[in-house]
Amino acid sequence: MAIQKNVPLLHHVAWKCCVCFIWFTISAAQTNNILKGPNITKPGCQSRCGNLTVPYPFGIGLNSGCAIGELFEVNCNTSFSPSAAYIGGIEVLEIGDGQIRVANMLATTCYNETGHLVRKVDAWMNLITSTYSFSTLNTFTIIGCDDFAVISSSGNRNFSSGCVSLCNKVEDVLSGFCSGIGCCQTSNIPPGFNFFYAYLGSLNKHTTVFGFNPCSYAFLGERDKFIFRGASDFSDPTFVRRTIGSVPIVLDWVIGNLSCSAARKTNDYACHSSSLCVDSDTGFGGYRCSCAPGYEGNPYLAPGCQDINECEDPNTNTCEKICINTLGGYNCSCPEGHFGDGRKDGRGCIAKNKEFPVIKLSLGLGFGLLSLLMAVTWLYLGVKRRKILRLREKFFQKNGGMLLRQQLSSNEGGVESTKIFTAEELQKATNNYADERILGRGGYGTVYKGILSDKRIVAIKKSRLMDESQIEQFINEVVILTQVNHRNVVKLLGCCLEAEVPLLVYEYVSNGTLFHHIQHSRMSWMSWDNRLRIAAETASALSYLHSAASKPIIHRDVKSANILLDEYYTAKISDFGASRLIPLDQTQVTTLVQGTLGYLDPEYFRTSQLTEKSDVYSFGLVLAEIVTGKKPLCMERSEEERNLATFLIMSMKENRLFQVLDPRVVREGTLEQLQQIAELVKSCVSLNGADRPTMKEVAMELEGLKKFNLRHPWANTNQQNGQYESTRLMVNETEPLDLYTVPLSPYSDIQPLSGQYSLDSTDSVFPA
Ligand SMILES: *[C@@H]1O[C@H](CO)[C@@H](O)[C@H](O)[C@H]1NC(C)=O
Ligand SMILES: *[C@@H]1O[C@H](CO)[C@@H](O)[C@H](O)[C@H]1NC(C)=O
Ligand SMILES: *[C@@H]1O[C@H](CO)[C@@H](O)[C@H](O)[C@H]1NC(C)=O
Ligand SMILES: *[C@@H]1O[C@H](CO)[C@@H](O)[C@H](O)[C@H]1NC(C)=O
Ligand SMILES: *[C@@H]1O[C@H](CO)[C@@H](O)[C@H](O)[C@H]1NC(C)=O
Ligand SMILES: *[C@@H]1O[C@H](CO)[C@@H](O)[C@H](O)[C@H]1NC(C)=O
Ligand SMILES: *[C@@H]1O[C@H](CO)[C@@H](O)[C@H](O)[C@H]1NC(C)=O
Repeated sequence: MAIQKNVPLLHHVAWKCCVCFIWFTISAAQTNNILKGPNITKPGCQSRCGNLTVPYPFGIGLNSGCAIGELFEVNCNTSFSPSAAYIGGIEVLEIGDGQIRVANMLATTCYNETGHLVRKVDAWMNLITSTYSFSTLNTFTIIGCDDFAVISSSGNRNFSSGCVSLCNKVEDVLSGFCSGIGCCQTSNIPPGFNFFYAYLGSLNKHTTVFGFNPCSYAFLGERDKFIFRGASDFSDPTFVRRTIGSVPIVLDWVIGNLSCSAARKTNDYACHSSSLCVDSDTGFGGYRCSCAPGYEGNPYLAPGCQDINECEDPNTNTCEKICINTLGGYNCSCPEGHFGDGRKDGRGCIAKNKEFPVIKLSLGLGFGLLSLLMAVTWLYLGVKRRKILRLREKFFQKNGGMLLRQQLSSNEGGVESTKIFTAEELQKATNNYADERILGRGGYGTVYKGILSDKRIVAIKKSRLMDESQIEQFINEVVILTQVNHRNVVKLLGCCLEAEVPLLVYEYVSNGTLFHHIQHSRMSWMSWDNRLRIAAETASALSYLHSAASKPIIHRDVKSANILLDEYYTAKISDFGASRLIPLDQTQVTTLVQGTLGYLDPEYFRTSQLTEKSDVYSFGLVLAEIVTGKKPLCMERSEEERNLATFLIMSMKENRLFQVLDPRVVREGTLEQLQQIAELVKSCVSLNGADRPTMKEVAMELEGLKKFNLRHPWANTNQQNGQYESTRLMVNETEPLDLYTVPLSPYSDIQPLSGQYSLDSTDSVFPA
């Protein structure tokens, strides 16, 4: 009964269909927090296990026939007091309508004073072969002062997300809520996930915070249930037990993997009479039943829901005098000699006035009603028309239309080249967003290869979710790219805002990402010359963004996966979704920290002060990647070698630089060049932003190195000379390629589709 359809979310997005969109939002909101449900079990079946009431379709006993299927069978273990209930090995705490609460688990790491790991517990839960999934009521929480944690989910959709918590004084830690200091939380997780793995890591092994925070924890759990008690949680030996006891994980459940309409045609359709069928909102099939309005009972059990007799309880009906129960409702009426609708909230019952002929009254009433009706209809139509106009305008605005319009009118350069495409045009260009046209999926959307009517090949980026913050990033990208014209920055050709998610049209860059090429470093074109050229091109583009563009632009997410290569291996910087325009009179702005782990400037991380120097830091790591062929952050390397920048600097200090550089770089580059590059990396990744060079200085230095290289062509041709040969032998070429992501056993290459810190670099605009 697995629900493992690999249907991309996009297929559910109806184009230009605002009604669907509104419906989608409403139905998502309605699923919240209804853990109250029918309490009736199948006849002859035990209804309670310890403190837990088990309503059908759940049932107690394996193969007892009490449940609707294997996945709903509760194993009641009476060797505990009170008895404990398990489904598939997971302890169940509460069963409700559409949701269950299950026992939690915490990923834990503890260090001793000298930074040695003394305790490590992982947390994961696999629901892949079931019809359960993690509810959106859950959030991911980290407790600790020197920690980051990543939650990875796979199955129907793959994603990673996480947060970082750093503090150095116990006084800074606030209690009562998860403030981000000592405790951080992701937003509620998206629907439809059925696997998660929590990975917890520490930056300094708690050596700096050991005095008050030896252990850290990470867990998934119901957002509203967790209360952070500040620093006292750090030293509380009962923290794990208390959290497991108070913060459950909420799972959504559905019946089977068919939609209501498909299930109705089968023999084991679970909704009985007088009930409604509700499709699962995860988008992966399955349904639930609920009683029709005016009915109560257990919709999963024959004969179905029973009519509620509203007349029995004066509080559930609004009749003034006489109440008549009907199926699914009730009618009110008035005793003999009275007229009216009999409702307390209506006209009630009025004694008939003998002198006033009823006929006249009803005639007058009739005319009155008729004219009222006409007036109301006229009003209604008017309001409706205006509503539609307003909705259209709202769409346009929601997609950043106003912002863009403003931008286009105020901006002189680059406007003519930014074309507004129609939705039909792009639909045709991508063959109706056919799967085989997908170039890549990233955190912000899916990129399709498109062929325009004039045969031009373009890349079309489409937002994945209709989430406002993502749309903002799209518009941000449009605004930034319309101001930029540089051969090493990917060109924006146009956009389309009339669709419900905005679409961006770029020049097509055919050769994938630098990240991809670095990871396959044995590629023949990756010569020292070419690496140096790409580094210089990237640096010159960044320098241009920082200084030459009309307002300085900080890219904020410089990484090798965001550097695209065209057919001539020319570098093109892409993905400006996170970038910021810095007003000329300011040199720094305070923002929400955003970027990719491994490339993120530690200073920015600490202060939230965004300056051009953060891009310099990230570029330093890209440069390190280019010359070493290694990933910037690798959990599989030892602690001190984990960060590529520190690894490189240490190797330089210990005079073993050649061991970390890519063998081909060592063969083809000169000693001076390599040392100069290493020095450049070192200065770019200086902890203090002020110590870093500007992007312009970096670009100039790289240009200089390039020229230097041209003066010594022998560096490329005479590589078999004894001196170089011996260098080469020193390098351990059998070293396996680094695994980049957190070690997730069978899920080691999970692709993150969301999250502020993506660990994997597939999160780019155009992966190869
Ligand atoms: C739906 O569940 C049935 C078994 O109940 C299984 O055979 C089938 O493969 C599932 N379909 C999908 C698309 O997962
Ligand atoms: C089910 O609920 C009704 C009222 O909500 C209650 O009277 C009844 O005792 C419950 N039955 C069981 C088996 O708990
Ligand atoms: C569970 O039941 C026991 C008695 O069987 C009772 O003492 C305890 O308070 C109950 N716990 C909850 C959470 O209801
Ligand atoms: C109940 O739990 C105990 C302790 O975990 C275990 O040894 C036993 O096998 C379980 N019994 C059943 C019926 O699952
Ligand atoms: C920490 O643990 C390591 C390894 O178990 C041990 O060698 C070291 O002595 C411990 N340090 C302290 C202060 O206990
Ligand atoms: C998720 O990742 C797993 C493991 O890498 C892969 O097998 C699976 O196809 C991915 N699923 C989707 C929907 O991309
Ligand atoms: C209740 O009212 C509806 C509409 O006014 C009417 O069609 C229906 O026959 C009434 N039912 C009873 C039982 O009076």
